[in-house]
Amino acid sequence: MINLKKIEMTYDDHGTKINALKLKELQVKDGEKVAFIGSSGCGKTTLFNLISGMLTPTKGNVIVEDIDITTLTESERDLFRANHIGYIFQDFNLFPDFTVLQNVVLPMSFSKRYSKNEMEKEALSMLKRVGLENKKDQKVKTLSGGEKQRVAIARSIVNKPNVILADEPTGNLDYKNGAKIMDLILQIAKEEKATLLVITHNNSQLELFDRSINIEDLNEAIK
Ligand SMILES: Nc1ncnc2c1ncn2[C@@H]1O[C@H](COP(=O)(O)OP(=O)(O)OP(=O)(O)O)[C@@H](O)[C@H]1O
Ligand SMILES: [Mg+2]
Repeated sequence: MINLKKIEMTYDDHGTKINALKLKELQVKDGEKVAFIGSSGCGKTTLFNLISGMLTPTKGNVIVEDIDITTLTESERDLFRANHIGYIFQDFNLFPDFTVLQNVVLPMSFSKRYSKNEMEKEALSMLKRVGLENKKDQKVKTLSGGEKQRVAIARSIVNKPNVILADEPTGNLDYKNGAKIMDLILQIAKEEKATLLVITHNNSQLELFDRSINIEDLNEAIK
């Protein structure tokens, strides 16, 4: 269960306060598939950064898997993220000069759950699932957009997260590859019994989800 209560997020940009997000309540049940929509700048990525513990809110509580992550220290939040959250970022966030395999192994080294041998074996099995085992030794910077997104997916699920966050995972892809990537994410979330939250600008994808939420409807009139 994800539960956000009375959240406010204000960025401080060199002394200028930017109100990025304000919402009374948001609940997502275990195993639910929810799409998030809303115009550019309405706070979608900010919301995901709060749920993943990458950011702490200016006000309010963020409860994920019965843990109030706003009460954790930074290193506790890092460990929480490694063990509970799979994050597919808006701009991939891969290491371009590392190989495909090295990129997927990386989050396992943070989770402290695996031995060295297990890490490589597990990473390879994830790459197989996304159809990239034959590219494992290739540097990420030499891959196509769709291939990079598949590496990002493999990396996000390698620690078996309960919650998968995907921030516009098909935004940089053509229609056909976008549909394939979305199918892959939905299939993996189902197999892993994970809760899935996806930000999308593509209205034709909304029917694939249990419900869709427009952040602008949750966001109070603060801008
Ligand atoms: N680190 C930051 N410092 C200052 N302001 C920020 C920061 N990150 C985001 N913002 C501001 O907060 C608001 C919400 O940003 P956010 O990235 O959450 O929007 P978004 O809904 O994901 O937009 P998009 O659809 O374009 O990705 C914007 O006005 C943005 O300029
Ligand atoms: Mg965004």
